[in-house]
Amino acid sequence: MAIALASALAVALVLSMAAGAASPAALIGLADCATSCGNVSVPYPFGFGPARCYWPGLNLTCDTTGPDPPRLLLGDGTFRVASISLRNTTVRVIRTGSVIAATDITTDRNVSFGSSFTDHGYKLSNGNELVLSGCNLLATLREDLGPSRSGIISGCASFCSFRDKKVNSVGQLTGKYCSGMACCQAPINYLSSPTGVHLRWLDPGNHTEELTFLPTYVFVAEEGWFDRRPLADELLSVKRPASREALEVPLVLQWGVKQGLPPPPDLWVNDTAKGCFSEVLRRLCKSENSVCDGGSLGYTCQCQDGFDGNPYLAGGCQGQSLLLLHYCC
Ligand SMILES: *[C@@H]1O[C@H](CO)[C@@H](O)[C@H](O)[C@H]1NC(C)=O
Ligand SMILES: *[C@@H]1O[C@H](CO)[C@@H](O)[C@H](O)[C@H]1NC(C)=O
Ligand SMILES: *[C@@H]1O[C@H](CO)[C@@H](O)[C@H](O)[C@H]1NC(C)=O
Ligand SMILES: *[C@@H]1O[C@H](CO)[C@@H](O)[C@H](O)[C@H]1NC(C)=O
Ligand SMILES: *[C@@H]1O[C@H](CO)[C@@H](O)[C@H](O)[C@H]1NC(C)=O
Ligand SMILES: *[C@@H]1O[C@H](CO)[C@@H](O)[C@H](O)[C@H]1NC(C)=O
Repeated sequence: MAIALASALAVALVLSMAAGAASPAALIGLADCATSCGNVSVPYPFGFGPARCYWPGLNLTCDTTGPDPPRLLLGDGTFRVASISLRNTTVRVIRTGSVIAATDITTDRNVSFGSSFTDHGYKLSNGNELVLSGCNLLATLREDLGPSRSGIISGCASFCSFRDKKVNSVGQLTGKYCSGMACCQAPINYLSSPTGVHLRWLDPGNHTEELTFLPTYVFVAEEGWFDRRPLADELLSVKRPASREALEVPLVLQWGVKQGLPPPPDLWVNDTAKGCFSEVLRRLCKSENSVCDGGSLGYTCQCQDGFDGNPYLAGGCQGQSLLLLHYCC
């Protein structure tokens, strides 16, 4: 009797697993809304087109006017969206060209980023870095801290010596990671809203002209991008191939949902207040088996452990049948 019951249970489990496997494809967006642009998948709360297709503030633009495949754009089009991760709450974007590209920099410069992503509530995520190449320069990544006050997010200095000049490919000198001779890499370690880069010329004294033999580049890029050897070697070589101005530089941005919801707890003020209101859970995290998280960027939702999919849609979080198999047998 007990054995018969157990095997009946096993059959029921197998049946429910089969039903799970046959369930409709994972939900990505709302009904009658486009869920991809070119080859980029656009999961709700992101969207484009009619306002009912996205949560306010998370609208993107699918540009189909160019000769290329459609491009998914953020804000004014400075950034092309390469991928959206609901789980990591990140958007990976591509910026074309470096922040600064010049030869013979012997004066100070300030370059503004504009507000291409900060205007829209995104922040630069951990996992990006500041990269500087060139001779005798100090670059600082800046943020605004109120009227006429600017803070430093990250900084990098790069020097050259006459010895470097004799070696045609400076890449030979730098090893895997730029440490300050000819180029420098510095991590960006917290969620930030950079507004620009300050570049200072560190006058080496005599022979100034001879110490500007490398072109200057400043990048804010996803960690790992600059480490790709052919790229770093090409940028640091004295020759200047034309392809550099068309460089595609990836960046990782963090997002959250803010508009139309109660203000999220300010974690700078109270870091024990992390959490959500039930109203947010009900209105934003629409799927059963989803949980909510609140922080300075707004709210985000996740499927509970054992579930996968889109927590922002009713029925979005689906059970992982493999996990069930693991527990039951
Ligand atoms: C999308 O297309 C671009 C260019 O055609 C390519 O570089 C990229 O890897 C593709 N992305 C995906 C997710 O397939
Ligand atoms: C969302 O739409 C508004 C109004 O059309 C536009 O100004 C804004 O740039 C869009 N936001 C993004 C992130 O593309
Ligand atoms: C999510 O974050 C992890 C850890 O940082 C990373 O390995 C993974 O590639 C990210 N996934 C996406 C889709 O961004
Ligand atoms: C750059 O900005 C800083 C502070 O905002 C200012 O002190 C400096 O003079 C500026 N430099 C140039 C070259 O504009
Ligand atoms: C520059 O060169 C001159 C002559 O070679 C020397 O007298 C002077 O001390 C040098 N200055 C610096 C800052 O090295
Ligand atoms: C921080 O938030 C917690 C939970 O909401 C609350 O109990 C506590 O009083 C808050 N502390 C401050 C200093 O606001």
